[in-house]
Amino acid sequence: MYKHQFDFTENDFRVIQKLIYDYAGISLNDAKQNLVYSRLTRRLRANNITNFSSYLEFLSKDKNEWQLFINALTTNLTSFFREPHHFPILARHIKNLDTRETIALWSCAASTGEEPYSMAMTMVELFGSYTPPVRIIATDIDTQALEQAKAGIYSMEKVDMLTPDQLRPFFLKGEGKNAGLVKIREELKDIVTFRQVNLLNEDWSVRAPFAAIFCRNVMIYLDKKTQMAILQRFAPLLAPKGLLFVGHSENIILISDLFKLHSRTVYQLKQE
Ligand SMILES: C[S@@+](CC[C@H](N)C(=O)[O-])C[C@H]1O[C@@H](n2cnc3c(N)ncnc32)[C@H](O)[C@@H]1O
Repeated sequence: MYKHQFDFTENDFRVIQKLIYDYAGISLNDAKQNLVYSRLTRRLRANNITNFSSYLEFLSKDKNEWQLFINALTTNLTSFFREPHHFPILARHIKNLDTRETIALWSCAASTGEEPYSMAMTMVELFGSYTPPVRIIATDIDTQALEQAKAGIYSMEKVDMLTPDQLRPFFLKGEGKNAGLVKIREELKDIVTFRQVNLLNEDWSVRAPFAAIFCRNVMIYLDKKTQMAILQRFAPLLAPKGLLFVGHSENIILISDLFKLHSRTVYQLKQE
């Protein structure tokens, strides 16, 4: 480790590694020491603390800091229509459902909202209505990411890849002091409900069955044992023929006793 401004020992790193693993399932290997240092120095500064061992002591006593510690260690990278091939698959799947019930979708690592809003846009386009018979529950462990998601305000760069036809119906363009920003339209927001859920918690309190679960680019931070446990718990929450969407590098072939491949990085229960 290089010399740090704030004292950060091997033992401090081990303690942090265990805390985040036990609480969130996030598995930080030894190569992540510098990342942890740079993510958490913000928290030390905010609390006027000059070394990690004092910070860890403070953390053990301060409930509010605990959530900020978790938020600091999550990686929230996401974008609108990330892994774009998933969205036409979702549209086709919903179109083929023969149901009069409201269709439920779950984005279980929603981050700052781009994923569930992309799902909502897909549903509005599919049904040709701002009030499709669809509800989307969007959850994440990170409360700050969820606050941003709820606000639905993004910089123009975040929507660079969208066509004018995708932008116009779903975003309002900021003017004056809001120039350079866009805001998700209220009609789209109304389709999505954001809530904190830690995938490691025993009780997710989500209202199944889901026609689709998006669990994308979160498994990569968890170890195999935790991934398996979570995937097993998805199975009973999926509606018949329900689809599980995972990230491009999240290969769940290993649990092929439960899921089978439906299309690229999309899975379906084996036993329907
Ligand atoms: C890289 S983002 C993925 C966002 C989006 N699904 C996508 O593919 O673009 C990973 C998200 O997983 C969340 N996360 C990490 N551990 C979690 C856990 N135990 N429970 C729920 N969310 C978690 C993080 O807070 C982060 O927002």
